[in-house]
Amino acid sequence: MAAKKLWAGRFGTATSKAVDEFTASIAFDHILYRYDIMGSIAHCRMLSKQKIIPARDARTIIGALKEIEKEIENGKLAFAPQKEDIHMLIESRLIQKVGAVGGKIHTARSRNDQIALDVSLYLRDALVDTVCLLDQVQQALITMAEKHIDVFLPGFTHLQHAQPLLFAHHVMAYFEMLQRDRARMEACYGRVNRMPLGAGALAGTPHPIDRQYVAGLLGYPAVTANSMDSVSDRDTLIEFCSNAAIVMMHLSRFCEELILWTSSEFQFVEISDSFCTGSSIMPQKKNPDVPELIRGKTGRVYGSLMALLTLMKSLPLTYNRDLQEDKEALFDTVETVKSCLAVFALMLPEIKVNKEKMAEAAQSGFLTATDLADYLVEKGVAFRTAHDIVGRIVSYCIRKKKSLWDLSVNELKRFNKNIGADVLNTIALTASINRRTCVGGTGRTAVKQAIRKAAAELRKGKKFIEQAETTRRKMADVK
Ligand code: ARG
Repeated sequence: MAAKKLWAGRFGTATSKAVDEFTASIAFDHILYRYDIMGSIAHCRMLSKQKIIPARDARTIIGALKEIEKEIENGKLAFAPQKEDIHMLIESRLIQKVGAVGGKIHTARSRNDQIALDVSLYLRDALVDTVCLLDQVQQALITMAEKHIDVFLPGFTHLQHAQPLLFAHHVMAYFEMLQRDRARMEACYGRVNRMPLGAGALAGTPHPIDRQYVAGLLGYPAVTANSMDSVSDRDTLIEFCSNAAIVMMHLSRFCEELILWTSSEFQFVEISDSFCTGSSIMPQKKNPDVPELIRGKTGRVYGSLMALLTLMKSLPLTYNRDLQEDKEALFDTVETVKSCLAVFALMLPEIKVNKEKMAEAAQSGFLTATDLADYLVEKGVAFRTAHDIVGRIVSYCIRKKKSLWDLSVNELKRFNKNIGADVLNTIALTASINRRTCVGGTGRTAVKQAIRKAAAELRKGKKFIEQAETTRRKMADVK
């Protein structure tokens, strides 16, 4: 016979095994055990301080909760579906260990505000971990950009050769994306940082609790404002998943480029053997599985975001059991985005840049045609006219199977009399790149400045990480 449920008072018969299995969340919410115990200890300290339970009972409960944490860590406590969820497992074990006194832990608390607290604590950690990993990828991007500051690359629009670029500029574009991702994660942390416990089932509690005290113990600067909102709000989970979806979209774009660039058609980069795998049938193959998997995993992160949005749509206030479905989507997203960022940070230094191939590719596609038009503009020709003239020059080159650089000054002059000897300098690759010194341009000085600014931003970003680490330590102190 399974032990009686902690809520079984009004029930005539035990739940069927099928229902136990169907409703249980312990198979996945057990990962919250540390947060659940931490929250319970903070709650218990508050109950004792407010004289809602005797100090002696609180000591007994806290001592047992710490033992239970060890039991879980050592695999001594089974996650049986009859225990329903992590909260019930821990509470029933507590009562088993210390007797009826253990039942006092749930005074002035409901599982509805308890789970809100557990997930909030979990999410704070997940956000800090994600920011740290974004930081690692960003560092790796800066290192890559610095190392290859002299490498040219054809820039693409519509996947057609467009204008020449510094490879470092291309790399730093991803730095910017991740910098925005980071800001989104930090902003989300600010919104998670409201302590929900004390909301009770939905309406608060008549017991003289001290919510601010619990918040202080757990390193929260404030408590949530409305008990109904506290138990039914899942905004920050959705926000995390949305932010994660954008991170994955960014990683996936870079991965797509790496996959293209490692192909024999491009050969712009090579990913070291330790980050590729072979084929079980084709002996010659070296496949870019890591970027492919990151690109692939983007799908499940989008899927989880959709699942959460759909879950919340039309849910009446306040708690509904539907809300239990939020966890797998969140946990999977946290694990996926963290593992993708971690492996991405490790892979970046393992990428060999093929400077010669990139430079060779930059020779074709009339990359400096716009520079030629800009040159004519400097000579007083209206841009639209200049555009047309250069269009005709390009068409001439295609017919003659020549590049812009193969043309002599006299040949060019035939298209417009304003063209002089100084044109050759203007349409050279290096000149084209280096004249783009405007802020945000691909000119060498502009890119170097962008790298310096990025490094300074990373140094500034450490402040958030340090503050969050202090909160983590404070949180651990609650025990
Ligand atoms: N396992 C539940 C969840 O994740 C905990 C809250 C249960 N509350 C309830 N009223 N049944 O949502």
